[in-house]
Amino acid sequence: MKTLVSPSLLAADFLHLKDEIEMINNSEADWLHLDVMDGFFVPNISFGFPILEAVSKVCKKPLDVHFMIVHPEQYIEQTAKIGAMMMNVHYEACTHLHRTIQQIHAAGMKAGVTLNPSTPVFMLEDIIRDVDMVLLMSVNPGFGGQKFIENTIRKVERLRRLINETGSHALIEVDGGVQAETAPRLVKAGVDVLVSGSYVFKSTDPYATIEALKKLK
Ligand code: DX5
Ligand code: ZN
Repeated sequence: MKTLVSPSLLAADFLHLKDEIEMINNSEADWLHLDVMDGFFVPNISFGFPILEAVSKVCKKPLDVHFMIVHPEQYIEQTAKIGAMMMNVHYEACTHLHRTIQQIHAAGMKAGVTLNPSTPVFMLEDIIRDVDMVLLMSVNPGFGGQKFIENTIRKVERLRRLINETGSHALIEVDGGVQAETAPRLVKAGVDVLVSGSYVFKSTDPYATIEALKKLK
C-alpha cells in the first residue's frame, strides 16, 4: 500500500485558509488533518466547529479530525454533521472507549484511537479489532513544530505486531515531528498514514513536499 499523507492544518496560514485548502485540494494529499484543542486535555486552544464547518465546505479531501479534548463523545453527532471521514479520540480522554468507538461508527464515521507518547500500545489489546486506525503521537500533543520522540519507532513496530497478531484492519498513523529525516524511518517501521504540519505548510514547495512523503515505502 502507498503511504497516505494527511497534512495538519494547524501549521497553515489562518489568514489565507481558503488558499491553503485549495493547495491541499490540488495536491496529492490523501486526507486533511484537523486538530481540535480545548485548553484542558492539552495546554493550548486551537479551533472548533465554526472553522471545521467552513473548512468542510471547501475541502475536497476526506477530513481526519483529531480531538485533543476532554469528553470527545459529546461531539460525535456534530462531527458527523460536517461530513468528517475519521474521528480520532484520545485513549486518555475516554473512560468508556468501547462505547465511544461504537457511537462513532453508528454516526457513520471511521473511528481512530490516539495514544499519547507515554501510553503503551498494549493498552489497545482489547479494542484493536474494533478501531479503523490507531494514531500514535510522536510529540506531546498541543503544539506544532515540536521535536520527534525517538521511542515512537519502537512503538510503531510493536503496534504493527499487535495488528498482525490480532487480524485487526487498523491503519497506523503518526503525528508530530514528521519530516524528511523521520518519515522514511516511520514508514519502514510500519506506518500507513503520515500527519505532517510545519514540514508541509512551511515548505517553499508544499506540493513537492507532499509528493515526496507519498513516495516513501
Ligand atoms: C500536535 C498536533 C499535530 C501538529 C503536528 O498536537 O496533533 O497534528 O499539527 O505538527 P508538526 O508536524 O509541525 O509536528
Ligand atoms: Zn494532530
